[in-house]
Amino acid sequence: MAPHLGQGARRTLRSAALRLDEAHASTDLRERFLLPPGVVYLDGNSLGALPVAVPAALERVVHDEWGRGLITSWNAAGWWEAPTRVGDAVGRLIGAAPGQVVVGDTTTVRLYQALRGAASLRPDARVLVTDPGSFPTDLYVAHGVAAEAGWRVELADPDQMPALLDRLSADGDPVAAVAFSHVDYRTGRLWDLAGLVAAAHRAGALAIADLCHSAGAIPVGLDEAGVDLAVGCSYKYLNGGPGSPAYLYVASRHQSVFVNPIPGWQGHARPFDMAGTYEPADGVARARTGTAPMLSLLTLEAALTAFDGVDVVAVRARSSSLTGFLRRCLELLVPGLDVVSPAADDRRGSQVCVRDQHAYGIVQALVARGVVGDFRAPDIVRLGVAAPYLTHADMLTAAEAYADVLAAGEHLDARFARRSTVT
Ligand SMILES: Cc1ncc(COP(=O)(O)O)c(C=O)c1O
Repeated sequence: MAPHLGQGARRTLRSAALRLDEAHASTDLRERFLLPPGVVYLDGNSLGALPVAVPAALERVVHDEWGRGLITSWNAAGWWEAPTRVGDAVGRLIGAAPGQVVVGDTTTVRLYQALRGAASLRPDARVLVTDPGSFPTDLYVAHGVAAEAGWRVELADPDQMPALLDRLSADGDPVAAVAFSHVDYRTGRLWDLAGLVAAAHRAGALAIADLCHSAGAIPVGLDEAGVDLAVGCSYKYLNGGPGSPAYLYVASRHQSVFVNPIPGWQGHARPFDMAGTYEPADGVARARTGTAPMLSLLTLEAALTAFDGVDVVAVRARSSSLTGFLRRCLELLVPGLDVVSPAADDRRGSQVCVRDQHAYGIVQALVARGVVGDFRAPDIVRLGVAAPYLTHADMLTAAEAYADVLAAGEHLDARFARRSTVT
């Protein structure tokens, strides 16, 4: 396939991109981010871009709060309350009313707390239902907690879960929890959150959602959907930076009985009594563990200001338009591509993924052209679309690069042969 064959289509798509960018001008938030010139960044679903507000905030925290305030900053600068204060800021983006989200630790740890904590909320249940396509950490934690709690693990794709749950319920097999990712990290498939919650509740089970690939991109609506527990990272669409802390949502109605399986001193009712026995704090503060990574947490707080005055519904509308347009560009410029992300807007998260046996080489060749996506084993080219800082013109640029890489066979170049450590 020679690149010049698509010139007419490219011109038509370029005009369409300009029209779409004009129509969506009010949600173009690129000036709130610092991105290197000449790069189309399609990996914000792995590591979000750097928000403009972050460098100065970090400088202030380091020099003023840490450097000058020293230990007084735990009170004077509000460090102590930061896990729940930043939790409320995250909560606004995922449809959680204040007082239900706490930030700190990793998603893996938060997931352990959610799943193990579910045992305290469903003490007589015996089964954990989860998605075999979950991110590896989610599966490892699910199996680990099941072994600890004496649960059997039943695996089902989220669209098969309601039928499985109805069957388990009819058999009188008590289900503790249903754990699933809101968006599939590999395919970008967006699952029906409210439907899964309803199915879980019909079976008497708790619904536990991993929001890593939806928070900041999709209006999750945790309270409205009736989700029981949820977790997510903050370094993807929330732009908190590498290793920024994860969050745990515990719905208000569960907080008084939720048992934190990692009862650290910061979740104690009176932490500075230094008592030898644990007594949980009221509210979501009981889900705190030990000292939160304060520099990362405050970096996240600054990063979240990139969403100030912005409704996630509007971000989602922009994202649907961008991913829909990217899909269209790829299909027109690279006929025959196996696009695995759903065509329907309401089933597609904020990414467009292609299955190809040469996926690794394609990703590397794209990166060499300034189009940064990522590879997910065994054969997925993943193009993440963080709507606030991307345009329809960027989508076309990425699709053109994709077409040109394949046409020139660049992905087969020895430079792009697969190595074992990749991101
Ligand atoms: C869906 C999902 N869950 C969990 C994780 C693991 O997160 P962490 O490294 O913060 O424990 C990731 C990481 O990318 C993820 O994508």
